[in-house]
Amino acid sequence: MLTFSFLTLFPELLAPFAGEAIIGKARERGLLDVNLVQLRDFSDNKHLKVDDTPYGGGAGMVIRVDVAERALMSLPPADEVILLTPAGQPFTQTVAEELAQKNHLVFLCGRYEGFDARTEHLVTRELSIGDFVMMGGEAAAACVLEAVARLRPGVIGDPESHRADSFSSGLLDYPEYTRPPEWRGQRVPEVLRGGNHGAVAAWRREQALRRTLARRPDLLMGAGLTPQDSAALLNLGVTAEQLQAWDAPPPPPAKRVKRKKIRIDGSQSE
Ligand SMILES: C[S@@+](CC[C@H](N)C(=O)[O-])C[C@H]1O[C@@H](n2cnc3c(N)ncnc32)[C@H](O)[C@@H]1O
Repeated sequence: MLTFSFLTLFPELLAPFAGEAIIGKARERGLLDVNLVQLRDFSDNKHLKVDDTPYGGGAGMVIRVDVAERALMSLPPADEVILLTPAGQPFTQTVAEELAQKNHLVFLCGRYEGFDARTEHLVTRELSIGDFVMMGGEAAAACVLEAVARLRPGVIGDPESHRADSFSSGLLDYPEYTRPPEWRGQRVPEVLRGGNHGAVAAWRREQALRRTLARRPDLLMGAGLTPQDSAALLNLGVTAEQLQAWDAPPPPPAKRVKRKKIRIDGSQSE
């Protein structure tokens, strides 16, 4: 069981994500749990204030470290205490995979100017969901919940389904199609309708490489490319130097075509 505890001033923002179909069902089946904790419950102030003005002046309010600490102390031991902040480590699929191995994750969702800097000493890591600033940490927490929960065994019906997902495979996902077979002049690629599983797998891998090269070439470095991938990338115009920089293995040697020797008298031999 993986428990997510969210410390927040707006638990009602996270409640729909915690009860959403797949996560709700996983909770019913005892695979996940979500614990929404109101930070105000740990105020020592009769007005339930949790923030104060910043030392040194300036706009906005800062959430007090003592409130954060009391809220954290009220929880069972956690594997990770995570502060959501634009200044954190970028949240990636690799981080999601790492967090999915844990049993109890605690998240501190900021508001206003965020938490007092001394809160950093209470956490095991800081995560950012991107280079932009939102009003609060709840949307960031929902992103992490969605990304981590689906990686837990049993949460998603087919465990194979996230193997090919963007980033899990090291590449962006290949394009998918469903009915109708033709829409406004755009036809579903013939190979996907031919029933040849090997050809489908090869086409999908080539498409994933093509998309990644066009949209996120930075991912190709360390993507676990195979010699066949290298050959496909060379065909897509990538140079041998680029492949080397991405640490890609050399393409497989081209198959030698056995030519029949033609004798002067016109007879053939192997
Ligand atoms: C208005 S922001 C505070 C921004 C802070 N003054 C700064 O510039 O880093 C309030 C809260 O939203 C959350 N937040 C905003 N953007 C975020 C992001 N990109 N990733 C994670 N959390 C974010 C954090 O919890 C933060 O404490």
